[in-house]
Amino acid sequence: MITRLLGKRGAGRKVNAEGKLRHIAFIMDGNGRWAKKRGMPRTYGHAAGAAVFKRIIEYCGKIGIGAVTVYAFSTENWKRPKEEVDAIMKIFRDYLDEAERSFSQKDIQLHFLGSKSVFPEETAKRMTALEKASAGRRLILNIAVNYGGRDEIVHAVNELIREGRTEICEEDITSHLYTKDSPPPDLIVRTGAEKRISNFLLWEAAYAELYFTDVLWPDFDERQVDLCVADFYARKRRFGGI
Ligand code: FPP
Repeated sequence: MITRLLGKRGAGRKVNAEGKLRHIAFIMDGNGRWAKKRGMPRTYGHAAGAAVFKRIIEYCGKIGIGAVTVYAFSTENWKRPKEEVDAIMKIFRDYLDEAERSFSQKDIQLHFLGSKSVFPEETAKRMTALEKASAGRRLILNIAVNYGGRDEIVHAVNELIREGRTEICEEDITSHLYTKDSPPPDLIVRTGAEKRISNFLLWEAAYAELYFTDVLWPDFDERQVDLCVADFYARKRRFGGI
């Protein structure tokens, strides 16, 4: 309600003026329920969620956040009905089209978290090409698609084995994760009222602050980001110290 009175656009750069929030991650939950409340198919909720995703990325860039990670599709989400999986994959391919058309003006560095081997070869090639073409740009955008936190750790360990390692340390795992180009997440936000991590950034989340909101993802907006950021600034981060 307060959010409605204050408007949706958010306060802008001053909310993260100290630049302490370097990496924010979102579990974009609630698309299906949002659509159901409107008597619409779940896929309608995903389309609305994708539009919100684009706005939120833009706003995170505006308030000086250096890295954003979104959980778009998990290794478990393949179990959903084919029609829903197909609809999410179509949204994803449309986003690749858009990125190829317009990302050169956007200063966004794209990374896809998760194994690309499940995608058609053509799609996987486009993902890799976008990662290469956008390297070095300012805002890191990690899109977790076919992603699972456990799968990511296994993948890192297998890479180390392939490199011939017989003993490893924490830093070895960190530097072989899909997120190796990002700082660890400072804040993980989950919309949609559930309070769990659902196999997201399991290794990286060790010292992340967690923020849960009942707001369904398609209702999330810039003002909601401001609330998350303000909450983050009110936390005392000790990283195991005192
Ligand atoms: C979880 O909500 C949402 C998903 C599994 C899909 C999220 C995908 C998008 C927002 C599209 C993103 C697109 C790009 C290009 C990154 P849910 O469907 O489980 O919601 P429910 O809990 O209400 O059923």
